Amino acid sequence: MNLPKQITLMDVSPRDGLQSETVFVLTEKKVALIDALIDAGLRRIEVTSFVSPKWVPQMADAAEVLQAVVAKHPDVTFEVLLPNEKGYERALATGLVKQVGYIVAATESLNVKNVNMSVADSMKQFAVMAARAKADGIRTRGTIGVSFVCPYEGAVDAAKVKAIVDDYVAAGADEVCLADTIGRALPHQVYDLFAAVKDKHPDVPLAGHFHDTYKMSCANVFAALQAGADIFDSAVGNLGGCQFAKGATGNVSTEQLVYMLNGMGIVTGVDHAKITDVGRNAQRLIIPAQT
Ligand code: COA
Ligand code: ZN
Repeated sequence: MNLPKQITLMDVSPRDGLQSETVFVLTEKKVALIDALIDAGLRRIEVTSFVSPKWVPQMADAAEVLQAVVAKHPDVTFEVLLPNEKGYERALATGLVKQVGYIVAATESLNVKNVNMSVADSMKQFAVMAARAKADGIRTRGTIGVSFVCPYEGAVDAAKVKAIVDDYVAAGADEVCLADTIGRALPHQVYDLFAAVKDKHPDVPLAGHFHDTYKMSCANVFAALQAGADIFDSAVGNLGGCQFAKGATGNVSTEQLVYMLNGMGIVTGVDHAKITDVGRNAQRLIIPAQT
């Protein structure tokens, strides 16, 4: 088997995990979750997104969350998700951001629902932002949402995804991520697409973002690992989802992934017992939303 010795886990609980919760999780609770993730060994966290607070009220405290965590954890990479150039401006204005993530969906239907733009317009904004980020010393990740199945358009043509990867790389993305936003991909499809991307862009770090709708997420991570991906997103406590993508359920759970990878001798840096506790506590954060 072709497996790396070490991988990077990016915990996305504070962003993907909480963004669709309707009851606002207090900033101090988000900060406590981030501190606990770091205590368990995570060194890369997607902490928030600079999106429209009208579209996603849960992320309205993006700047406050960053202010509370960045200075006290100098060894952690805090990533923020952006939907457009205005998001970049807001992130830059904090003076605290060194790494940004951008998202475009592989299908027009989802991209319009998610960011109210065509795929081409999203990619134009990314190109402008990536150029600015290079000049500002900020690292960029380009994610492709619904890389496999879209809730509105069905099976996604791999050629479309590969073309967006090429555009991201041409625009200067420092990393590319393929996302199975609604958790419908199967391992053989994951292997084929990740291998094709790795083959074409061997020097571009490749990440996977899997949801667990059909409990395929660990199998999909395993397939992506063998195809050369070595960065994975996950969220504790089965948190996760996207209100704009019908059917999106929780992310692959960090504790489950840590169990698998640590057990396989692949270094994650994360303590399984500690992260399991964090997952249990994190579920309490969203209890008010369920009652
Ligand atoms: N952050 C905060 N406010 C923003 C913003 C941003 N990144 N981008 C735009 N706005 C504001 C504008 O300033 C404007 O404000 P005003 O009404 O006070 O003048 C208003 O939002 C409308 O701007 P517009 O450019 O027309 O945005 P839109 O309504 O077409 O929405 C997005 C576009 C991208 C801002 C919105 O779709 C969005 O935030 N999407 C993110 C969805 C998401 O997080 N999905 C989950 C992640 S995968
Ligand atoms: Zn997601």
